[in-house]
Amino acid sequence: MEKPFLLHMFTPTQNVSPFDVNMAYDAGYQAVIPYTDVALDQIAPLTQDCIFSRGPRGAKRTGIFIGGREIGLAADMLDAAKRAMVPPFEVSVFADPSGAFTTAAAMVASVEGQLRKTHGTDLSGKQVIILGGTGPVGTAAAVLASSAGARVRIASHTSFDRARMTAEVARARYGADASAAIAGSTDERRELIVAADVVLATAKAGVQVLSALELTHAKKLLVAADLNAVPPAGIEGLGVMDNGVTLKNTNAVGIGALAIGNIKYQNMRAMFELMLSAEKPLYLDFRDAFELARKQVAAS
Ligand SMILES: NC(=O)c1ccc[n+]([C@@H]2O[C@H](COP(=O)([O-])OP(=O)(O)OC[C@H]3O[C@@H](n4cnc5c(N)ncnc54)[C@H](OP(=O)(O)O)[C@@H]3O)[C@@H](O)[C@H]2O)c1
Repeated sequence: MEKPFLLHMFTPTQNVSPFDVNMAYDAGYQAVIPYTDVALDQIAPLTQDCIFSRGPRGAKRTGIFIGGREIGLAADMLDAAKRAMVPPFEVSVFADPSGAFTTAAAMVASVEGQLRKTHGTDLSGKQVIILGGTGPVGTAAAVLASSAGARVRIASHTSFDRARMTAEVARARYGADASAAIAGSTDERRELIVAADVVLATAKAGVQVLSALELTHAKKLLVAADLNAVPPAGIEGLGVMDNGVTLKNTNAVGIGALAIGNIKYQNMRAMFELMLSAEKPLYLDFRDAFELARKQVAAS
């Protein structure tokens, strides 16, 4: 009898994400095993516990998923798992903390798709403002938008220092062209929006970060994308299903949370399917998710 497909889910948080568990089973894993409160120094021994018991053939039917809330820690955990492999005892590893890698990949690829389709351009040289940019999704989106040639400003509504530290992580770790901004007041948001070619809203669910009135100051704006699926909309007037709908009183088009969510869903599922079918071990992070999301947006 063939060995079952097993996915070992490591997370530094108290629980794994039910969303991730559902996605893994639906993609074809036959058992998903959670390991919670995992510290970085436990990744090597846990990984080696995974790889030796099933032989090289069984290793192809074994995977590791890394979750959590921090993208830097998830990247460190992925590196630690990779270093712990002892070929030919080696399994695929996929990091997607808080869904941030696949969600940011879907968001930035969708923005590129609308820039191309509606405005005949791309992200190169564009000014991207990320409102609510200090969370895991905003940080990953900053890195990806920068990798596509954009200049990025990561905005916090409470603390310039928090935005500065987030931008520093994006710069130091990934070489991103990212700087910090504060967006707590209408005046601060207006100042930011005036210069924006693209606005990404990646704040906590259920929070509006830009009003319709503030949007009218966005004279250069080409595309606005919102990840918030919980009312009120993150960007007032931008519907969750919108994908290329012109925003009132602007020349920009909007992309809503469920339009991005559709690509994110396809993306995460395809990442699991890649692991399930891989002949050689894969190490998947937001760069792989982005490459795939660009193809998925082009095909949609
Ligand atoms: N479609 C999908 O599949 C999918 C998957 C994952 C996440 N999401 C959505 O993506 C968004 C970002 O996720 P996340 O986990 O990165 O978010 P998060 O960590 O919960 O929040 C991101 C940032 O929002 C800011 N924020 C909090 N309260 C705010 C307020 N009242 N006004 C303005 N900003 C506020 C905070 O930054 P400051 O305090 O520094 O401003 C925080 O760092 C969420 O809406 C989430 O639901 C969607």
